Amino acid sequence: MRTIIFTTLLCVSSATALGAEQPVDSPQQQAAALADEFIGLLKPQLKQALAEAGPAHAIAVCADVAPGIADSLSVQSGWTVRRVSLKSRNASRAVPDSWERTVLLDFNQRQAAGENAADLHFGEVVNGQYRYMQAQAVEPVCLVCHGKGLADEVQNTLREYYPDDWATGYSLGEVRGAISLSGTL
Ligand code: HEC
Repeated sequence: MRTIIFTTLLCVSSATALGAEQPVDSPQQQAAALADEFIGLLKPQLKQALAEAGPAHAIAVCADVAPGIADSLSVQSGWTVRRVSLKSRNASRAVPDSWERTVLLDFNQRQAAGENAADLHFGEVVNGQYRYMQAQAVEPVCLVCHGKGLADEVQNTLREYYPDDWATGYSLGEVRGAISLSGTL
């Protein structure tokens, strides 16, 4: 009996030691995990707000919650985390820089050529920083606020919050934008 316990303990401690030697995640893995975390935090809140209080309230939640998640993930991780789009809604946060613009244009082309928008991602080292983008695809739920022919209530609330909104007129499956991350190597 004692031998069994001893052997078990040995196994556990060597497993821990092995775990400690595992290489840290690559920048691409870290960025991809952060992009997933962003979506994992935002989507449930968006869906809950839509279900409980309707789209006008959900817009208010999005206006507050989405930038808040981006900021707190940035502080926690040391990466810069934001969302960008070629047709931005949030004019002060979501306008892409030239690298992001090039990647978004490429995502649009790849989606138009048949690739699944949800799978599109790209990362590379730019000026000593690792930059990574994960596309966000237009799903059925997105059309309420990003589709064509929005409900009046939605249109009016959007106008209140975002006088320079470009982010409507989308169809299912298109690239709505991307989560963009950059981290110092
Ligand atoms: C209830 C309305 C609503 C729904 C539904 C919605 N969004 Fe948005 N979306 C917004 C608002 C409001 C913003 C601006 C948030 C901000 O100020 O950062 C936004 C911003 C974005 C942005 C950031 C770029 C930009 O244009 O400012 C992306 C990307 C985005 N949405 C993707 C999606 C996707 C993908 C879905 C579906 C899974 C979705 N949204 C569903 C309201 C909505």
